[in-house]
Amino acid sequence: MVERKRETFSGKLGFILSCLGSAIGLGNIWMFPWRLGKYGGAAFLIPYFICVFTLGVTGLIGEFAFGRSRQGGSLKGIKEVFKEKNLRFGKFFAVMPTLAVSGILIFYTIVVGWVLRYFCASLKGNLNSVDIPKYFNNFAGTSQSIGWHFLAMVIGVVIVILGVAKGIERINKIIMPSLFIIFVILMIRSLTLSGAMEGVKYLLVPDWSYLFKPMTWIMALGQAFFTVSLNGAGMVVYGSYLKKDVDIISSSINVAIFDTISALLASLIIIPAAFAFGLDPAAGPSLLFITMPFIFKSMPLGYIFSILFFISIVFAAISSAINMLEASSEAFISQFKMRRVKSVVIIGVIAFIIGIPLDVDMAKFGAWADFITIYLAPIGAIIASIAFFWIYGADRALKDINEGSKKPLGKWFKPVAKYLYTFSIVIVLILGIIYNGIG
Ligand code: ALA
Repeated sequence: MVERKRETFSGKLGFILSCLGSAIGLGNIWMFPWRLGKYGGAAFLIPYFICVFTLGVTGLIGEFAFGRSRQGGSLKGIKEVFKEKNLRFGKFFAVMPTLAVSGILIFYTIVVGWVLRYFCASLKGNLNSVDIPKYFNNFAGTSQSIGWHFLAMVIGVVIVILGVAKGIERINKIIMPSLFIIFVILMIRSLTLSGAMEGVKYLLVPDWSYLFKPMTWIMALGQAFFTVSLNGAGMVVYGSYLKKDVDIISSSINVAIFDTISALLASLIIIPAAFAFGLDPAAGPSLLFITMPFIFKSMPLGYIFSILFFISIVFAAISSAINMLEASSEAFISQFKMRRVKSVVIIGVIAFIIGIPLDVDMAKFGAWADFITIYLAPIGAIIASIAFFWIYGADRALKDINEGSKKPLGKWFKPVAKYLYTFSIVIVLILGIIYNGIG
């Protein structure tokens, strides 16, 4: 049985908050602050803003409009446009973005499980009494994380089963504003710690020499792509639930703006606090699961702040995971004409089972995450971009993009999307391979 009428987001706000849910995730929290500090402080913001507001926004506009125009996720959309032009290998290309987003789902929910465990531990006050590095290392990469991984998947499955308006939109309307409020509270706490200003200086005093280092631009480019979730499937599926009168252009700009604000807030929480306690704000899992708990352990009222911090990370991570689950499940729904409930459960079970070997082996986890983010995600985004801007055609794409928009884009957008955007993802792919990951 198929759903008769395609569901829609109730309006622009619900749509933007859901897309923000997808965009704001671990990339904003455990990558951005570190990159901002390491690549020239405020100077890094220049390449980052350029990348996120030109390429990131172009990608969002394209993916949203593609989904809305085909009234389907990227599997259906890509297949259709290949078929329309009698091109071969449509099915092969069409499945790639979905594989990419499913691949991200598989490792991302494992991390959501870690975050859930830390949230529960902070609630119980356990983080104050344990040896933190041991606590993390005895858990991540062992069978102990499987149960938490399972819990993360169940939460995602339940939300996605409820549907677009009643599940995804409703939850994001609650958790996204909450996340911003909590981030502001945490930022005030962090900035008022003694010694915090050194961290602020480290973050914000620009070192302009970094603008002349290619690595600064490479990292800004990779960050911009990962942070707004461009993989050719996630944002396409949310776009497919968009009503015709919603302004895709201003929605995309809003998503990029608030995603960037959240990353800046995360930086102003994490780095000043790390400086205040003389800790090295390294990137990646150790920042969230080792450095931050150390900080909370030493901070007055750390118990309360650790709860707030980990609940906000739960919000950020879960809302990204549900986008990945929705994109994967929608492909199943459209391909096999399956009911939502059945399809979400099947995807959830498969993704969970494939993830178990990664739960118990950090090397495998890393290799999987690298493979997906370095190869499959950019390839997915390239395929979606080619399908929409090249095969479907830039003229028709522009018409679809401008539908419902107050300030329609001019013809100039066509070469930007068709050439600049598409080739920049190819660059992301190549640089990712050369540097073993930039996203
Ligand atoms: N865009 C999401 C993140 O930054 C996936 O984590």
